[in-house]
Amino acid sequence: MAVRQGVDGVGGEADPVALAGGPPVSLRVDRISKSFYGVAAVDDVSVELHGGEIHGLLGENGAGKSTLCSMLVGLYRPDSGRIVLDGDEVHLRSPDDAAALGIGMVYQHFRLVESFTVAENIMLGRGTAGGRRARRAVEEQVDALASEYGLAVHPGAPVWQLSVGERQRVEILKQLSRGARVLILDEPTAVLAPHEADRLFDAVRLMVDKGHAVVLVSHKMQEILGHTDRVTVLRAGRHAGTGATASLTPAALNTMMFGNDLAGTDTTEGHTAQVPGEPVLTVSGLTVTGDHGRPAVDDVSLTVRRREIVGIAGVAGNGQRELHETIAGLRSPATGTVTTAALAYVPEDRLGTGLAPGLPIEHNLALRSFRREPHARRGVLRHRAMRETATALVDAFDVRGARDGMPVSFMSGGNLQKAILARELSEAHDVLVAAAPTRGLDIAAAEAVRRHLRSERDEGRGVLLFSEDLGEVLELSDRILVMFQGRLVGEFDRGSVDLDQVGLLMTGAAE
Ligand SMILES: Nc1ncnc2c1ncn2[C@@H]1O[C@H](COP(=O)(O)OP(=O)(O)OP(=O)(O)O)[C@@H](O)[C@H]1O
Ligand SMILES: [Mg+2]
Repeated sequence: MAVRQGVDGVGGEADPVALAGGPPVSLRVDRISKSFYGVAAVDDVSVELHGGEIHGLLGENGAGKSTLCSMLVGLYRPDSGRIVLDGDEVHLRSPDDAAALGIGMVYQHFRLVESFTVAENIMLGRGTAGGRRARRAVEEQVDALASEYGLAVHPGAPVWQLSVGERQRVEILKQLSRGARVLILDEPTAVLAPHEADRLFDAVRLMVDKGHAVVLVSHKMQEILGHTDRVTVLRAGRHAGTGATASLTPAALNTMMFGNDLAGTDTTEGHTAQVPGEPVLTVSGLTVTGDHGRPAVDDVSLTVRRREIVGIAGVAGNGQRELHETIAGLRSPATGTVTTAALAYVPEDRLGTGLAPGLPIEHNLALRSFRREPHARRGVLRHRAMRETATALVDAFDVRGARDGMPVSFMSGGNLQKAILARELSEAHDVLVAAAPTRGLDIAAAEAVRRHLRSERDEGRGVLLFSEDLGEVLELSDRILVMFQGRLVGEFDRGSVDLDQVGLLMTGAAE
C-alpha cells in the first residue's frame, strides 16, 4: 500500500507494520499513574484506543491530558501501570521507541527545522542523513502520502515559507511516513482557519478508515462532538469516563469534565455597547520586517480607544505576531510608529516571551513589579510579599497546579496562560494587547478570560485582541479588522459584520 512506498532501505528503523488487511491496532493503558512533586497528574487511568476510531480526549486545564499523551509517546515514564500495544506490554523510553512501534504525536508547538525543506524535515524525523537517492525516495513518499490523505505540501519547499496549516500537514506526514499507526494530535485546530480544520478532519477520517487510531485532544466541544467516535474525559488526573460520542451531549461532557458545580454555568454574556473615548494606542504606517527578511507587517495603521475592544481576525502566520510584538516593543519597525499609553501585554508565546520558565510562580508573577514596593524595599527583595501577591493572584485568576518552588514550565498550558493574564492585568495600564488569550483554555477558563477582557473595556481601558478564533473575535469585539499577508484587508463594525466576507478576506479568497 501507498504508505509504505519507497521507504525500503531508506530509514534505519523497524519496518512499519502494514495496516491494510492486518488486525487494527490496539493501544491500551492499564491503571497508569504519574506524579510530579508528590501530586498525581495522571491517577490510575485505564483507556483503550482502537484502530479505526477517532478518540477525543477532553478535560479542563491541568486534568492530565498532556501527561497521559506524553507517556504514550515515551516522553514520560509511568510511575505505575502498563502500556499494552496489540496485546503485548511495551516499555517506551523515548519518543523514538514509540515511533518505532508506530505511535506518534503532533505537538501544538511544531518541531520543524525552519531552514530545512519539507523532505529534509521528514528525513530528520527518521534519522536518515540523506544522499540524493534517499532524498528522492522520501520526496516520492511524501508526495504519495500527501495525495493519499489530501494533505497537499510541496516536498521541496523550505519550511519557513509554509503557512501554519501547511506546517501541521508536514508534521502529520512526518509521523505517517515513520509508520505511525496511532497518531496523537494535541489541539490541532487551535491555529487553523475553519476551512483548514475541515480539511484536517477529512484527512484524519481517511486515516482511521485505513485502520489508524487517532487521539484528538481538544477544548472545543463542537469539534469533539462533530468529529470523534468515542470520547474519554479526564478530571483532576482521574478517568471520569469513556463513551461513544453519539451517546453524549455537551451537558453530559461538561458534567464529566467539571463535576456538577459548573455544568449548568451560562457561558454566554450580553454585549453592552459603550461610547469609545480617547485613543490609547495608535499605530501608523507600520511596516515590520519578518524573520526572513520579507515584510511581515505591511503598512498597517490602526487606533484603539478607551472603552472599545478591537479584534484582529486572521489565520495564524499572517503577520499578527510581528504586529503585536512590535506594539509591545519586542521588535523594531522598519517604518512607521506606535504611540501607546501604559500597555499590558499577553504574548502568545507563553514560555518564551511571557514567563521565565525556570522560575517559580511567585517570581513570575512579580516579573513586572519586583523592583517596587511591596516586593522590594531599599533594594532588597521581599519574598514574603511576593508570595502573598502570588497567592492572591493565583486565587483571583484560578491558576492551578503551581507548587512551592516548582518552575512554572511544569504547569499545564492553560494554567500558564492564566498566570500571564493575572500578572499583566494586575499592573496599571490603559490598553491591553492580548494575543490568543484563550488558546488552550478549557471552556470555563476561556469564559473567565473573556469576562476579564470585557471588564477591561467596561472599566475604561482599550483592548486590542488577536485571535484565530473567529467566533471569539466576533463575540467580543466592537470593531473587527481582518489581517491577511501582513495587511489589514477589511474593517467591520460590530453591527455590520458579514461573516462570509470575513472568512474570505482571512484566506485571501476575496477579490
Ligand atoms: N514535568 C512536570 N513537572 C511537574 N508537574 C507537571 C509536569 N507535567 C505536568 N505537571 C502537572 O500535572 C498536571 C497535569 O498537567 P497536564 O499538562 O497533563 O494537563 P492538561 O490536561 O494537558 O492541561 P491543559 O489543557 O492546560 O494543557 C498539572 O497540574 C501540571 O502542573
Ligand atoms: Mg496540555
